[in-house]
Amino acid sequence: MKRTEIVEEIRQFVEDECRKPTSKYGFGPYDSHFVPMVKYAKKLALEMGADVEIVEIAGWLHDIGSIIVGREDHHVTGAEIARKKLGELGYPEERIASVANCILHHRGSQKMESETLEEQIIIEADSISCFDNITGIFRAALVNEKKTEDEARKSVLKKMTNKWNQLRFEKSKEMIGPKYEAVRILLDR
Ligand SMILES: [Fe+2]
Repeated sequence: MKRTEIVEEIRQFVEDECRKPTSKYGFGPYDSHFVPMVKYAKKLALEMGADVEIVEIAGWLHDIGSIIVGREDHHVTGAEIARKKLGELGYPEERIASVANCILHHRGSQKMESETLEEQIIIEADSISCFDNITGIFRAALVNEKKTEDEARKSVLKKMTNKWNQLRFEKSKEMIGPKYEAVRILLDR
């Protein structure tokens, strides 16, 4: 199987898993999180001279553990699923290890040392992708957390500001700056 076909195979695998009735979060995250996450990850990889293929594959697979097994330890379960799937596709061992490390280290909250540029890009794109899902974050505040409209406005603004403050690359600030500015114009009173 050619390299480009492997990326497409992995994308399709993630889409199929999100579509299954067993998906822990339904199909929603495919469009609202995976697609923008990979878009930003690929863009950062291209602009920063990282290994685009590793970043793209890791971007598609970084939350697969959440979808198939559940949120807890999804970096560990996801890395396992990725190793198995990529092994079946005959992807080179050392590249499987790079993808698995990106997945293992993608949770900023786990406070692990991220070593490679590819690993850092996955963490960064995970944060940036929230800026493409403001409606989903509002829905979570209003529906899941049952906040009032004003509480939701404040909590969404706080969440996006935290995401912005966590960004580590100037490239991502350039990329997402206008969206963060728009959030502040619309939500800060
Ligand atoms: Fe994610």
